Amino acid sequence: MNEKRSFFDGRLSAVLVAAGSSVGLGNIWRFPYVAGSNGGGAFVLVYLGCLLLLGMPVMMAEFAIGRHTRQNAVGAYRSLDKRWSWLGYNGVVSALLIMGFYFVVAGWVGAWLVRSASGELAALSDSAACAKSFASFTSSPWAPLAYTLGFILLNHAVIVLGVKKGIERSARFLMPLLLVMLVVLAIRSLLMEGAAEGIEFFLKPDFSKITPRTVLVAMGQVFFSLSVGLGTMVTYASYFNRETDLKRTALHVSLIDTGVAILAGIVIFPAVFSAGIAPEAGPSLVFITLPDIFNSMGHPALWSSIFFLLLAVAALTSTISLHETATLYLHEEWHLSRSTAAWITTMCSVLLASLASLSMGTLKGWQIGGLNFFDQLDFLTANILLPLGGLATCIFAGWVLDRKVLVEQMHSGKPRTAFLSCTLVVLLRWICPVLLVMIFLDNLHLI
Ligand code: PHE
Repeated sequence: MNEKRSFFDGRLSAVLVAAGSSVGLGNIWRFPYVAGSNGGGAFVLVYLGCLLLLGMPVMMAEFAIGRHTRQNAVGAYRSLDKRWSWLGYNGVVSALLIMGFYFVVAGWVGAWLVRSASGELAALSDSAACAKSFASFTSSPWAPLAYTLGFILLNHAVIVLGVKKGIERSARFLMPLLLVMLVVLAIRSLLMEGAAEGIEFFLKPDFSKITPRTVLVAMGQVFFSLSVGLGTMVTYASYFNRETDLKRTALHVSLIDTGVAILAGIVIFPAVFSAGIAPEAGPSLVFITLPDIFNSMGHPALWSSIFFLLLAVAALTSTISLHETATLYLHEEWHLSRSTAAWITTMCSVLLASLASLSMGTLKGWQIGGLNFFDQLDFLTANILLPLGGLATCIFAGWVLDRKVLVEQMHSGKPRTAFLSCTLVVLLRWICPVLLVMIFLDNLHLI
């Protein structure tokens, strides 16, 4: 065991840091739309079921592996069983590839924050003007690149400050800030005229929309949203101290992650419906529809600045965890200083993110299977590498990892509750792998 490492102070830090990784762009624009168009409240129930059966057990397994080995993702799996080090590499590569497109979106968020604060967005006359401004910004070569680089450097600065002064301190400051901004925005949104209709679209249970396909969509969402399947939680748990209760931490992180996703829907849909606009998915909802809606309110610059600051904070705490996954690997496995390791990770992200950013305009022609580079990174990670990593993590934790290690880590030195550990083992051995194989096949359009 490597005892020279830093540890997070107590339970609150562990929860905030892991929640920082989980709460991200996936919660704020993806969850509300997916829920709203897949059965509303009924989808939320299915999502909660998947969270309990799939997301939380995998998160607990990653926590146990990380804290037991106290190593980076590759070292952790290798020290437990040499044949499984590929699972750690899968994680590091996935983290780099996710950074490739996530930083680009984070750059757009940064640009929209600056444009909100400067009043530039508020000056746009209607949604067509918002759409045009977004399209011309993202397809231009230099401006989005500059914002993306700015965001990467901010992220780099936090990583170089170190585990305690950078990662832990930023999470302890940014996560409460994020929650406060979200609650303020939710209250503002609920006070709008069409609020009831928006909430109805988002949360009214419509069980007729629940099909096997919806269950698969919910599982995929749980997975990406909790940041499990790529060793990020292994990496963070290697900094948890011995007293941190892993079951409770996983429970609290899941509650915060889901709470933020639901509050995000409460912010977005009442606003969308009060403006009489059909809800749309993804980037256009956040970067085009919402700015247009803010413009119809009093103080548009203020509200859109708060909203984009919220998104920037959510994105930053997630990219920090992705960066740390790769940096810690380089630091420990290649025996580089933390700063050199961080620079290499930063340079790789700059390269990938630049290509992804340019693929929205200048390099649009570079397509494989009809997808530009940005979409390829998204597709490869979310649909292939993460489900594969998650599936392998369950098989590893359920079948390969010594059961004593798992049980010991779960109890953190406290009296045993045999029932809970048995349930966890059954879930990891049988239930999670079967569910994950289904997501995987579905994503490859095999079922
Ligand atoms: N969970 C983050 C989100 O919801 C994305 C992410 C995935 C971050 C995997 C780290 C690792 O946006």
